[in-house]
Amino acid sequence: MKQSVFSITENTPLTANVYRMRLEGDTGDILRPGQFVNIRLEGLYLRRPISVCDREGDILTLIYKTVGEGTDRMSRLIPGQKLDLLTGLGNGYDLDRSGDKPLLAGGGVGVPPLYWLAKELIGRGRHVSAVLGFNRADEVFYEEEFKRLGCAVTVTTVDGTRGKKGFVTDALPDEYTHVYACGPMPMLRAVYDQTSVSGQYSFEERMGCGFGACMGCSVKTRTGSKRLCKDGPVLAKEEIIWDA
Ligand SMILES: Cc1cc2nc3c(=O)[nH]c(=O)nc-3n(C[C@H](O)[C@H](O)[C@H](O)COP(=O)(O)OP(=O)(O)OC[C@H]3O[C@@H](n4cnc5c(N)ncnc54)[C@H](O)[C@@H]3O)c2cc1C
Ligand code: FES
Repeated sequence: MKQSVFSITENTPLTANVYRMRLEGDTGDILRPGQFVNIRLEGLYLRRPISVCDREGDILTLIYKTVGEGTDRMSRLIPGQKLDLLTGLGNGYDLDRSGDKPLLAGGGVGVPPLYWLAKELIGRGRHVSAVLGFNRADEVFYEEEFKRLGCAVTVTTVDGTRGKKGFVTDALPDEYTHVYACGPMPMLRAVYDQTSVSGQYSFEERMGCGFGACMGCSVKTRTGSKRLCKDGPVLAKEEIIWDA
């Protein structure tokens, strides 16, 4: 983990309430897709965790949805302003388990970390399918970006206004070797239940410190208690225990 100051180079809306922020700084500790950064915002006690969407050289890309005070403040920042970040947090996805045809299943703001993952997997010559789920057409983002990487992309919307009508689990491809998932808990659970292959699931749950000190994010797994911020946020399918 590293604490450093990043300079904002872009903060653009992608939809009505989802923004892409690009920042320049020391990305040396950001090693794997699925890791996250923890952002200090003026006047707020707790930092706000956001997944790494991409990292190219010293440019970090984040995509976030405005849901409360912290993310609302983020949306009002402008290029040139600085942010204090903890980087290199979380375990990230294990790319070695992908097999030849990995499936990436993302819902809403669970989609961003799958972008860098897709890029890395395609760079390794894997045949990547991505199913990206949203509520409505006007909430869809990054469909073209995933296609440009070379993924076979299916978009689903709950109301059918774009792509296939329904949930991510209504559009799973016929064949895949491993599942990488990130999204809201009901989506993760549905993907877990409806797929029989191995997988890795990222749990973007509420956190306290974000680096393993407060135990506020502890969950029970089949391999013992784990802190989602440090031992996760990615859990392997075989270790997940769902709350009843
Ligand atoms: C490892 C990790 C990675 C994340 N990656 C992303 C990302 O890439 N993009 C993104 O938009 N968001 C991501 N999140 C969620 C993001 O951290 C929260 O939305 C953010 O902290 C909310 O801060 P706030 O001050 O705006 O809202 P708050 O005022 O703190 O909360 C506003 C509302 O959002 C709910 N909320 C807050 N945090 C979460 C959460 N983690 N999960 C579900 N509901 C929450 C609260 O219960 C409340 O109803 C991630 C969370 C974690 C733990
Ligand atoms: S959030 Fe403090 S230990 Fe995980």
